[in-house]
Order: sequence, then C-alpha cells, then structure tokens
Amino acid sequence: MDYNTDFEMDFEDRIMDTSEIPSDALDSDNPLRPKTLDEYIGQDKAKENLKIFIEAAKKRGESLDHVLLYGPPGLGKTTLSGIIANEMGVNIRITSGPAIEKPGDLAALLTNLNPGDVLFIDEIHRLSRSVEEILYPSMEDFAIDIITGKGQMAASYHLPLPRFTLVGATTRAGQLTAPLRDRFGVVLRLEMYTPEELAQIITRSANILGIKIDEDGALELASRSRGTPRIANRLLKRVRDFSEVISDGVITVEVAQTALDRLEIDELGLDQNDRRMLEAMIKYYRGGPVGLETLAAAIGEEAVTIEDVYEPYLMQIGFLSRTPRGRCVTAAAYEHLGYKVPANTAAAQGSLFD
Ligand code: ADE
Repeated sequence: MDYNTDFEMDFEDRIMDTSEIPSDALDSDNPLRPKTLDEYIGQDKAKENLKIFIEAAKKRGESLDHVLLYGPPGLGKTTLSGIIANEMGVNIRITSGPAIEKPGDLAALLTNLNPGDVLFIDEIHRLSRSVEEILYPSMEDFAIDIITGKGQMAASYHLPLPRFTLVGATTRAGQLTAPLRDRFGVVLRLEMYTPEELAQIITRSANILGIKIDEDGALELASRSRGTPRIANRLLKRVRDFSEVISDGVITVEVAQTALDRLEIDELGLDQNDRRMLEAMIKYYRGGPVGLETLAAAIGEEAVTIEDVYEPYLMQIGFLSRTPRGRCVTAAAYEHLGYKVPANTAAAQGSLFD
C-alpha cells in the first residue's frame, strides 16, 4: 500500500495537486477571504440555513453533516468551506476530485483527519469511480475496507475513521452520481451575486487592501464583474493600477469606466471571449441553434469551459438560451453587439415572446 501518511499541517501541504485548485484558493493568507459567516456577503439563503445547521451541530457536540456546494465557478465555494471549518472550530484539508487518483490517496487523507475536521473536495464530480466507491462507506459509516494484494496475498483492512465533514464542491450537480449526491445531508446552491452585493464586496476588499474607491466607482466595477466575486476582486486590483497611473489613485466611476474599457470589458461585463463566442454564433450559425461541440470547435474552446465559464452569465443576463436543438443567441444579445436581428431566426422568433 502506498499510503502517504506524512502529512504536514502546513496549508500548502494540505493540497495534493496544486494545479487543480484556483490560485486564490491556495493562499491561506488571502486577506480578502472572509473568515466568518457574518463577514461573508450575499448568498443569504445558503448562509442563513448554514448558520442554523452549524449552530445545531455545535449545540449537540456533533460534527456537521456532509455539505454539497454547487454553482458556477468563482462564487465562493472554497471560501465558504473555510468558513464552515472556522465556525465549527476545526481544521480543513483541501483537495480536488482529479487530484485523488487512487483509493489509497483518499484513505491517506481520511485516516489523517482529526475528529470533526472538514475535508474539502473541489470538483467532486471528477472523482474516479474507484475512489467514489470508497467514499460512500467513509461518508456513511466512518470506516473503510481496503483490500490489498491478489490471490493468496490478498488482505483486507478495516480502517475506522474519525467522524468528519465532507464538503464537496461542483460546478455541475447534475454530473454527480445519485448515490454520492444522496449522501450529502446539506445541499446548497450558490447564486450569482447582484451588483449591489458585489459593490459591498468590492468596498470591503478595497478597505482591506487600502484602495480608495467611491460608491459609484464600486457599483460600476460591480456591474461589470459578471455576478462573480473572484472577477470583482481581480478587476479591483487592475483598475487600481489605472487609477494610480492615469488619475489621483481614487477609483471613481470615470476611472472605472476608462480602465474597464481599456481592458475591453464592456458595460455588462462581457469580455473578448464572450463577444467572440456570441459573434461566431451570429455570423456562422445565424444565431443558432448550434450544438455545444460544434460551437466549441468553431471557437477553439473546450466544451466544458463554454458550459462552466461563459454560459452561466450569458444565460443569466438573457443573452443565450439552451434548447433541445442547441444554443441560441437572443435578440437582446444581437442588439447589445450592434447587429440587427435577422428575420426567420431563433432570435427573431424568441423576441416575439420576450
Ligand atoms: N470575497 C469574496 N467573496 C466574498 C463574499 N461573499 N463576501 C465577502 N467577501 C468576499
């Protein structure tokens, strides 16, 4: 058995394969990450329920039930898992589905947990079947049976585990197998943030980083951040650069507009990639319907990137619809990009019902 049992408690060492985790997730000292539920802005529904479950578990002196977080990337799933561990007063270990290659990798992680600890598995939909199969009894019975060797050399080990909380995160709950999904006692869907919520996050981040931004500047940045805190915080840092070089260091609405225009991020937060995809659909497929794989090949992008990164926001703002026959651009997207809606297209028909 090649269990790796010499885990250090260092944060960096808790991660098995750093290439699979967004870079901001690696940084335990990221000062922008809220550490408590009260500091966490937005996701009110998920937050209020989570507050109850955490308080109830603590009152009973139990570990928190397993939690599944799902929703588009960048909405704070890793942040929330850190908050869960912090509020429960336990340690967190962070890994991801693709990083756990063998059942032994998972066994090593699980046997090194302390009672109550949080194990965070990002992209849990990408676990291999063999790993998933030992995860089921781990979650349910807090024990695993591992068989090593073959034939006469075969040996079976029953490993009791501490009671732990698995926090799984996925961009696609639909891709989880039913047995895995059913083993999560708490399932929380994260929604895109409103511009007002993002403006609060930006103002909080600016305070922490010592960046000067006024209310309208924050709202301008917020409304171009695609409903996503990760994007908002990234744009804040880039716009600060502009404010310090082309202005007096204060991010006003004018500075934000100039900077974001130069970064080619438009008033709705669309970037070159979004526009390239929508324009390809308009120019080559009369606005659709076009199949996902066909579209991916046409713009040289992976289908999963289109589904996970581009589409959620474009659908949210009503620029894209998914139909059984493929993706369609809406009349609103045609107009935003400065095209006339041609007659007898899906967009023209759709607009009749808008
Ligand atoms: N930074 C990133 N996401 C955040 C959130 N939801 N609340 C506060 N700060 C954040």
